[in-house]
Amino acid sequence: MDGNGRWANRLGLPRNEGHKMGVQNVEKIVEKSGQLGIRYLTLYAFSAENWKRPKEEVDALMDLLESFLLQQKKQLLKNKIRLHTIGRIQELPKRVQDRLSEVKEETASFCQSHLILALNYGARNEVIDAVERYVAATKNNDPTEHKLDWNTFSNYLDTAGIPDPELVIRTSGEHRVSNFLLMQSAYSEYFFSPVCWPDFGPELFEEALNNYRNRERRFRENRRPSS
Ligand code: IPE
Ligand code: MG
Repeated sequence: MDGNGRWANRLGLPRNEGHKMGVQNVEKIVEKSGQLGIRYLTLYAFSAENWKRPKEEVDALMDLLESFLLQQKKQLLKNKIRLHTIGRIQELPKRVQDRLSEVKEETASFCQSHLILALNYGARNEVIDAVERYVAATKNNDPTEHKLDWNTFSNYLDTAGIPDPELVIRTSGEHRVSNFLLMQSAYSEYFFSPVCWPDFGPELFEEALNNYRNRERRFRENRRPSS
């Protein structure tokens, strides 16, 4: 989700107004995603690099996250959507951590639809954390008896249990991946939209999915053995 700041700038508004509209759009996209039967929706809401922003902006983003969770809890319970997080959650303000735990616990029994918030997330940190967890978990094993493969290692990533993304969308005209799910998107399709996140509404979201569906169809057709 990129372009909140530029969206606000263009209208002569403070950046935080862009973030507020961004959150409103998140609510619409979560709803749309449910209607379309998407089982796993991951939102890159706060990157490990975002701490470098001015303190006022970081504080405002944390406030928005807290109120989003408070507000969205009812919707998640109503629509039976399970909340997950990826990223170094332990470094977020305590009040945000508490809200996250509460919503995660209350939605833990849902298994059909999943909303994953990437918070203080960066793929390189994730790999380092996974290596540390793997080393800690296997320190008493004989390394010659346990050949490490990707399937095993991926269980130590933050995304353990969550399937790899089929499609990764980035808004606002930036054609970069910015440390998002680097390992998990090894085979994903990418969709880059020039539209800033607050304006990337449900219709544009659906268009992106249709575009992906056509690529999938072509991929399958091309792979069909010729008669
Ligand atoms: C995305 O918008 C919001 C966050 C994920 C924090 P930006 O804040 O990056 O907006 P631009 O890139 O400055 O326009
Ligand atoms: Mg940005």
